[in-house]
Amino acid sequence: MLVWVGKRPLTHVTAFPAQHVEQCSADQPAETRQNWSGWPSAYPTGGLLFHGDNKEVLAHLLANGFRGKVNLIYIDPPFDSGADYVRKVSLRGASGSAKVDGERYTLGEQIQYTDIWANDNYLQFMYERLLLLNELLSSKGQLFFHCDERQSHRIRCLLDEVFGPESFRNEIIWHYSNKYGANSETLDVFHNTVFWYSKGRAQLVEDIRVPVKVPRKQPVRKWNKELGKNEWLRDEEGNYLYQESTDKELGDVWEIPVINPMALERADYPTQKPEQLLEYILRIASTVNDVVLDAFVGSGTTAAVAQKLTRRWIGCDINKGAIQTTAKRVLMIMREQADALERDSSVAQQSLLDDGADTAAPKPAQLSFSVWRVNDYDLHIQHNEAVNLACEHIGVERARTDTFFDGTLGKHLVKIIPFDHPLSPVDLEELRRELESRPDEDREITLVCLGIETAARAWIDDWNRLRKGRRAANRVHVIELRSDEKYGAFIRHQPARARVRIARRNGRLTVAIEEFVSPSIVERLRQQAGVVQPKIDDWRAMVDCVMIDPSYDGRVFTVALSDIPERKTDVVKGTYEIEAPARQATVAVKIVDMLGEEVLVTKTV
Ligand SMILES: C[S@@+](CC[C@H](N)C(=O)[O-])C[C@H]1O[C@@H](n2cnc3c(N)ncnc32)[C@H](O)[C@@H]1O
Repeated sequence: MLVWVGKRPLTHVTAFPAQHVEQCSADQPAETRQNWSGWPSAYPTGGLLFHGDNKEVLAHLLANGFRGKVNLIYIDPPFDSGADYVRKVSLRGASGSAKVDGERYTLGEQIQYTDIWANDNYLQFMYERLLLLNELLSSKGQLFFHCDERQSHRIRCLLDEVFGPESFRNEIIWHYSNKYGANSETLDVFHNTVFWYSKGRAQLVEDIRVPVKVPRKQPVRKWNKELGKNEWLRDEEGNYLYQESTDKELGDVWEIPVINPMALERADYPTQKPEQLLEYILRIASTVNDVVLDAFVGSGTTAAVAQKLTRRWIGCDINKGAIQTTAKRVLMIMREQADALERDSSVAQQSLLDDGADTAAPKPAQLSFSVWRVNDYDLHIQHNEAVNLACEHIGVERARTDTFFDGTLGKHLVKIIPFDHPLSPVDLEELRRELESRPDEDREITLVCLGIETAARAWIDDWNRLRKGRRAANRVHVIELRSDEKYGAFIRHQPARARVRIARRNGRLTVAIEEFVSPSIVERLRQQAGVVQPKIDDWRAMVDCVMIDPSYDGRVFTVALSDIPERKTDVVKGTYEIEAPARQATVAVKIVDMLGEEVLVTKTV
């Protein structure tokens, strides 16, 4: 057993609710294609993408019906290597060389995950995630852990401890012929390691054959049903029969090139893995409609391959750039699948007329997904730093000896709710427990938070209804820092804005984006500027993609037109024309900027 400083089992994690961020769909008629029975009712059917720390997201999934429901897990966590996972953001266009660097660890900005941990922290981090993943895995579930030579020996000990050594199946070597970096002190590294563990008995779901460079002579084998094994075939004289073979069974060394910079699958994510690798994994260890989870989803390779191979999928990442990249990537695949379905159904209808045969290809497991956020990581700062800032801002008198409350404001006791999530009923239950242990405490309470959930608001109304007039002990008040009239200037975020002209003419819709401004991008460019101030002459340099839903129902954004230039040197068109819905409808235009911020403009025409 591996021991490290501070090793401790995971005794409890608090599961916070998730906030629905958006629903993305490429599905025209919203019909259910697969059997979704057993799918937790807390979620819409379709792919699930979570923005947040996977410790909290996994706890959330466990608390909401996914225990034992996941068939296959692939994870490719940060390597404890100094690599940096921030999506480098640059402007679009030929002159888009002015880099806007990724996110930083300051208030109002986005969390960045650079892996700077010492070994002990890294191991505890991984151990906790593995314990949670084990709970989510079904009784016959499969887990694939992607790592490199710097941590593989420790990771294997961890996996043995959590899943049991008997669950070990293979140490897969991903051998790539092109390499990442140069080094003159050691031999060059041309491989990564993927550990395969499975609960219950593992069986290869599919025999994959891979081409061999030089054809080989191989004895001919045939499956003997009675013996239940392969038999070598011989001629009448008893000599083995040989055949020239141009392929071989997939072994535990996989030859797959790293992604070519020009490849279609390239998502500009520093640690993106090739789709072929995930394709092998999903084909050998999962079947159609299985639930596949990647808790470090990065650019979304696992989700993309799962979508292509008709699996259901759940992805999670702490980096907003990763969530945006994944969403964009999966949506493109879904669009292609929806188009293919439409073509197929007209071909099938035609061939039904011709010869009565149904030639339609297998239908995708889903053509929609939803994005969720567990805790508000856009505003991630250390809790003690948040408490200091908030107390100073509001003028709270600090109480250094109280283990629960942070101080007093006038006659009120004050508690600062951690800024990584909105005030929720879980926090309020904690407050109730604390007050129960202090029966003599009759002061009123002020909770300071960044935002508040509707359910928490209802909880407080109920609580206060019983505390009126002379029995006002422990009435609860809330200061919501984001919107409070008096204290609201705490966080100033100027959202991006767009001016869009939307009109209907002769059965066609015309959409023209006239202007787009992202104060965050402008501000970051200003901060990063050297001697020469970069100028943004064309608003389109700031825009990553544009999507249009011609009949938006206010809830599900169904993309009918998407303008996502493939190369960074290209910009969006900015003016569009598409067929108008027959009746009056709300047209929604979604503009996503190069930092991932979205603007939604709607108009009923
Ligand atoms: C090596 S990359 C994954 C790359 C991915 N396999 C692909 O093909 O694009 C690791 C990812 O884990 C994410 N990450 C790191 N710590 C995390 C955490 N605690 N919770 C969720 N995601 C995390 C990083 O943001 C990064 O996107």
